[in-house]
Amino acid sequence: MIITIDGPAAAGKGTLAGALAEKYKLAYFDTGMVYRAVGLQMVLSGADLQDQTKATEFAKKLTFPEMMKLSAHKDFRSDIGGQAASIVSAIPDVRSALLTMQQNFALNPVFADGTKANGAVYDGRDTGTVVCPDADLKIFITASSEVRAKRRFDEFSAKGINTTYEKVLSDMKERDERDSKRSAAPLKPADDAVIIDTSSLGIKEVLAKVCSLIDALK
Ligand code: C5P
Repeated sequence: MIITIDGPAAAGKGTLAGALAEKYKLAYFDTGMVYRAVGLQMVLSGADLQDQTKATEFAKKLTFPEMMKLSAHKDFRSDIGGQAASIVSAIPDVRSALLTMQQNFALNPVFADGTKANGAVYDGRDTGTVVCPDADLKIFITASSEVRAKRRFDEFSAKGINTTYEKVLSDMKERDERDSKRSAAPLKPADDAVIIDTSSLGIKEVLAKVCSLIDALK
């Protein structure tokens, strides 16, 4: 079984995907990691983030183990990593270089310890539209920019990252705008996706809703 969860930053994709993976014993692929890995390599190498040739070179060479190694860097999950990912992910050659790696995971899904799983949950921006167009269930989750910025700000504060709600909100709006307006795989729901607005829903309610959709597939 393949489930895709797409949507803008901090809509709750990761929390939902993690809970589904655990409940249905599925492997989990957070596809934002591939773009964060390329973006971070650009930042660490001092390259101009708009340098398409350099970004494509990093994308072509990226391997799963290298991506996992980069994910331990302090800026991988920070706004620096997020903004860099968003810039390089708008480059069509970067997206096509990273597509096979993402699609192969659905053919051979594995848990973090390398054992085989019977399916996978993907989270990202284009997993239902481009990466896994034949997924069994496609969810698109969203929430207002203010609610998402508050969630992200609380996450950063809990980690001791020094920022303000206003900064998080403006960075998020900038990233949403870039992700939705780019020509290559813009952020949008697949035609057959179920759209859920999580602005006034807790994770339990969202999970219950999605579980009922999954159970109806059986
Ligand atoms: O989900 P996350 O915040 O880690 O994603 C970082 C960036 O990577 C997004 O803002 C988006 O630009 C890009 N991305 C993408 N396609 C995906 C996943 C992430 O373009 N499937």
